[in-house]
Amino acid sequence: MYHGPEDSSFFQPDAPAARPSLRVGLLGIGTVGAGTFRVLRRNRHEIAGRAGRPIEVTMVAARNLARAADVVGEGVALVDDPMAVVNHPDIDVVVEAVGGTTAARDWVLQAIAQGKHVVTANKALLAVHGSEIFAAAQAQGVSVAFEGAVAVSIPIIKALREGLGANRIEWVAGIINGTTNFILSEMRAKGLAFEQVLQEAQRLGYAEADPSFDVEGVDAAHKASLLAAIAFGTSVQFERAHIEGITGLQAEDIAWAEALGYRVKLLGVVKRREQGIELRVHPTLLPEQHLLAQVNGSMNGIMVQGDACGPTLYYGAGAGSEQTASAVIADLIDVSRLADGRPEQRVPHLGFRPEALRELPVLPMAETRTRYYLRLPLANTPSALAEVSAVLETAGIGLQTLQKKADPARPERQQLVLLTQECRERDLRQALTRIEALASVLGAATLLRVENLE
Ligand code: HSE
Repeated sequence: MYHGPEDSSFFQPDAPAARPSLRVGLLGIGTVGAGTFRVLRRNRHEIAGRAGRPIEVTMVAARNLARAADVVGEGVALVDDPMAVVNHPDIDVVVEAVGGTTAARDWVLQAIAQGKHVVTANKALLAVHGSEIFAAAQAQGVSVAFEGAVAVSIPIIKALREGLGANRIEWVAGIINGTTNFILSEMRAKGLAFEQVLQEAQRLGYAEADPSFDVEGVDAAHKASLLAAIAFGTSVQFERAHIEGITGLQAEDIAWAEALGYRVKLLGVVKRREQGIELRVHPTLLPEQHLLAQVNGSMNGIMVQGDACGPTLYYGAGAGSEQTASAVIADLIDVSRLADGRPEQRVPHLGFRPEALRELPVLPMAETRTRYYLRLPLANTPSALAEVSAVLETAGIGLQTLQKKADPARPERQQLVLLTQECRERDLRQALTRIEALASVLGAATLLRVENLE
């Protein structure tokens, strides 16, 4: 028999075994907070059936109380001071849905000090202060849950921490910023300008309050550093991530990539290497038939390679109000079950027990190994191509594809585009310095990385 949300027999709060509600204090009632409130209310029977008790927002802190009242209606206490929620004795769990890394850190640490569990989708907060926050939570025996911090509707934290717990994770690569994926997809499909698409992403609620975090790759790096910590059992090392966004991308290179059978995506890559880990975010050429190359709009896609499971793939909305609520509420359901278990039986914050975490160094980009896309403005002379090829050959860098295009407006020039075989970035950059010094090379090279993710 189907037990739908309208079927109140699915969960009977008055039955003898009923447990008291989990009382949630919500900080912020913007995109994430309002979505969380709405979905909790709409799906309350389903959620209570899963949690074994009702989950109710009983208190909300908001800057604009009139607006908050419009969202939550009657029966929820409204305050304008988040600390009033955090310190309130009748609140069991605090959902931090404001964002930022300063005040949010104070609220979260105070909630932990008060012995309250915390749920947050604030990837910036955890990327910057994660080690401090997790250590404080560990000491207090409370949980800080953050499924919504990475690729909102995809349960990738749970997949890595629990579902793939048997594996030595080799790499994780993903499209983990909805805004930039939306921008790249719209620019490619509709030929729209960057600014126009960014405004639309902001209107749809995908972009961060400061959209430079999205377009400069910072948001994706926040998420990648959390993924690296969970995948490899190391600390959160956002400050060591290599970060390149999409603002420097030129339409010409997107078109060249297409002509060569590739799509350009902003990718977060974390990879285990013998001497440490790679932790990097940058625009990347992916073969157009690769499943991640098919991830368009604000959707996210993440691939995880484990030694036992092989490649696994996850797809879902990467941003949005109820999409984030989906993750936040899954965390609340987990929290609702914690009261019965001893803290040491819980899933550790980073999947590994704190004493099993290891300091894995993040390798400099010079040590990264990928394939490369290079575009060079070249003199239209018979020897120019041979000179460039000779430098690459001397450096031991193999070529996979090479194409030239004349510039009809300037017949003395041509564009040279080439794809290398896999090589070390240090070797490629050294070769590039020599190439750019050639008299037949008429300007700076454009360099993009190419991943096969096989
Ligand atoms: N600004 C983020 C994105 C929101 O576009 O992916 C979800 O983290």
